[in-house]
Amino acid sequence: MPHAHPTQPYDDQRPGTSGLRKKVKHFQQKNYLHNFVQSLFDVLDGYAGATLVVGGDGRYFNREAIQIIIKMAAANGFGRLLVGKGGILSTPAASHIIRKHGAFGGLILSASHNPGGPDADFGIKYNCGNGGPAPEAITEAIFARSQAITSYAMAEGEDIPLDTLGSHQLGAMTIEVIDPVADYADLMESLFDFDAIRDLLAGGFTLLFDAMHAVTGPYAVEILHRRLGATKESLLNCTPKEDFGGGHPDPNLTYAKALVDRMFGDRAPDFGAASDGDGDRNMVLGNHFFVTPSDSLALLAANAECAPGYRDGIAGVARSMPTSGAVDQVAKALGMECFETPTGWKFFGNLMDAGRVTLCGEESFGTGSNHVREKDGLWAVLFWLNILAARRQSVAEIVRRHWARFGRNYYSRHDYEGVESGVAHDLMAHIEGQFATLRGTTLAGRTVRTCDNFSYTDPVDGSTSSKQGLRILFDDGARIIFRLSGTGTVGATIRIYFEAFEPDKNRHNLDAQSALADLIAAASELAELRSRTGRSQPTVIT
Ligand code: G1P
Ligand code: ZN
Repeated sequence: MPHAHPTQPYDDQRPGTSGLRKKVKHFQQKNYLHNFVQSLFDVLDGYAGATLVVGGDGRYFNREAIQIIIKMAAANGFGRLLVGKGGILSTPAASHIIRKHGAFGGLILSASHNPGGPDADFGIKYNCGNGGPAPEAITEAIFARSQAITSYAMAEGEDIPLDTLGSHQLGAMTIEVIDPVADYADLMESLFDFDAIRDLLAGGFTLLFDAMHAVTGPYAVEILHRRLGATKESLLNCTPKEDFGGGHPDPNLTYAKALVDRMFGDRAPDFGAASDGDGDRNMVLGNHFFVTPSDSLALLAANAECAPGYRDGIAGVARSMPTSGAVDQVAKALGMECFETPTGWKFFGNLMDAGRVTLCGEESFGTGSNHVREKDGLWAVLFWLNILAARRQSVAEIVRRHWARFGRNYYSRHDYEGVESGVAHDLMAHIEGQFATLRGTTLAGRTVRTCDNFSYTDPVDGSTSSKQGLRILFDDGARIIFRLSGTGTVGATIRIYFEAFEPDKNRHNLDAQSALADLIAAASELAELRSRTGRSQPTVIT
C-alpha cells in the first residue's frame, strides 16, 4: 500500500539543461531525492497506468536511487516500469528505449562526464516521451513545485533484484528488469553496415576503444566485440565502476590520457575512441591524429551516404553556436539547411521532431542524429568505422581530404575551471561592455564585423533564448566566443572558443594553437584574463 510521507521542501532543486546535478552527499540528505521525484510526478499529467523507463550510468548511489524511484513510481500510479539490468542504461539507450516502448517518459541517473563515488557527483534527469530531455517549461515547473512540496508517496515493499532479468510486481505496477544493451545494439545494426565493419576489422585494421570504466563498457563488448569481431584487448576499461576507477569519465585530450598516449605512441592503432560516464559523448582519434568534434560532425554529414541508415540523404544539420562552422561549409556545398542553436542538446530535439534536421553536434564531444533524442557516443564511433570501412583510407587522410574540399576551420576551446563566480561574471560584463566600441576596429589583425550576446529563436516553436554567449565575429569568418559553463559543480568555468577559417589547402598543416595564436592573445587581453582570474594558462585546452 502506498504511504504519504510528510516532507520539508529544499530550495535548490532547479534542474539545469542536464537535469539536477549535485554531490552524492547532497542527494543523500533526508528526502532530497524523494522530493525531487515527487515534484516531477506532481507536475506531469496523464501517466496513470503508463510506462516509465529508469536507468543510469552505474555510478555510486545509482542502485539506491533506483529502488526509491521504483517505489515512488508504483505509489504514484505508473502501470509499468522498465529498468536496465544492474540499474544500467546509457543515456542514448534510455532515449531509444523510451521511444521504442512508447513510454510516457524516463528518468536517467547520471552526472555525465563528472567523477563518481561517495564524495563525487550524482544527477537525475527527466526525459519525455520523444526520448529527449524535458523542456524548460517542465523543469521550471518541477522547481516551483519542489519549493512547496509537503509530502511524497512511496509504496512499501522489498527492493527489486536488479541483477537478473525478470518481471516483478509492486502494488499495481509491473517492473521489468530488461537487457540494457540488446535494443540499442539492434538499432545500431539497423543504421550501419556491420558486414563492412566486420570485414574491415578482420582485415587487420586495428582499433582501441576506451569505455573509461563507465556505462559504455557492456555496450562496446556486445557491439564491437561480439557483433563486429573486435578483439577483447582492443576494448579498455569496459567494466563499469561506481567511481569510474577514480578518473574523470570525460573523453577529451586531458582526461582520456591513457588512450591518447597509445594513439600518439609507437605502434599506434588505426582508430581510437572513447565515451563518457553516461555514454553520450565521443572522442575520435586516428594514428597520431586528433579529430575535433566539430570536424567530426562535418565529416559525418559529408559522408552520410556510406551508412545504410542515412543513405537516402539527410534533411539538414545543426550545431551549437560555439561549435565550429565546419559543418556549415558542408551544408552550403551540398545544399542542406544548417541551424545554429544555443549550447545544450535540447534545442536539437525540436528540429529533429519537426523533421528539419538529421545530424547534429556540439564541439564538446557530442554528436548525434534523429535515431534518438540525445547525443550518442557509440553511434559516432560506429559511424566512423562505417566510413573507414567504405573508404579504406586512414583517419588522417579522410580528414585532410575533407579540409581540401571544404576548407579547414581551425578550432580550439580553452577552459578556465573553478574560477570564483563573482570574478567570472564581472569578466563577462567587462567584455560585453566593450562591444559598442569594438565593432569595425582591428583585433588580432582582422576587422571586427560585429559582436553580440547570442540569442536564438526556435524556428519550430518560436521561443527565444537570449544571453547564450558573447560572440566577436570577424569579417574573415574568424570568431572568439566567451561563455560561462552551465554544468560545472565548483565555482564558475569560463569557456573561450577560437575559430579561424582557412580555405587554402596549402595552409592546412598548422598546429591549431599556432594557427589561432593571435586570436588567443587578443581574447586574453580583451578579457583581462590574467589580472582578473590570476591564471596564466587555461585548465584544459581542447
Ligand atoms: C557542456 C557542454 C555542452 C553540453 C553540456 C552537456 O555544457 O559545453 O556543449 O551540451 O555540457 O553535456 P557547459 O558546461 O558548457 O554549459
Ligand atoms: Zn554525458
